[in-house]
Amino acid sequence: MELIVPLDQIHEAARIFWQKAGGKVFAFYGEMGAGKTTFITALCLAKGVRSAMGSPTFSLINEYVFVEGGESHAIFHLDLYRIKDEAEAVNAGIEDCLYSGNICFVEWPEKISGLLPEDTVHVSIAVINETSRLLKIADSAVKF
Ligand SMILES: Nc1ncnc2c1ncn2[C@@H]1O[C@H](COP(=O)(O)OP(=O)(O)OP(=O)(O)O)[C@@H](O)[C@H]1O
Ligand SMILES: [Mg+2]
Repeated sequence: MELIVPLDQIHEAARIFWQKAGGKVFAFYGEMGAGKTTFITALCLAKGVRSAMGSPTFSLINEYVFVEGGESHAIFHLDLYRIKDEAEAVNAGIEDCLYSGNICFVEWPEKISGLLPEDTVHVSIAVINETSRLLKIADSAVKF
């Protein structure tokens, strides 16, 4: 699936993403400044996350909460930019997040490609111009 995401329509794009994409673990690829954190934030808002969000640049693991069906659920947001290798990620408890059954967003997933669950949904973000981005969502978990 491809999705053009103009910044001023990012909330609509996030709703479409949740309608079309299944899965729990979402690996976001894209160069620095591509828009990974921005789109992940929009996805969290679309789920109804109200806790403070932002770039997890200075923390490896951010945890947010949303309510669905009367129950609280966690969302993990991992920014692995500063992670050296998979061993460091394992020590930091990254696998506990990836295999927790919760929604999990991963920035810089190429750092831990060997740790990602098999059913990870792979999403690449590329810059089209200063007002929009192109998302490509690849995987069997995509519903169409
Ligand atoms: N869909 C979009 N259209 C236009 N601009 C965008 C879009 N998404 C994000 N941006 C802009 O791109 C810049 C970088 O966004 P963001 O921090 O989300 O990138 P990133 O991929 O998470 O970068 P990093 O690798 O450093 O974490 C911000 O100025 C943001 O406003
Ligand atoms: Mg980021």
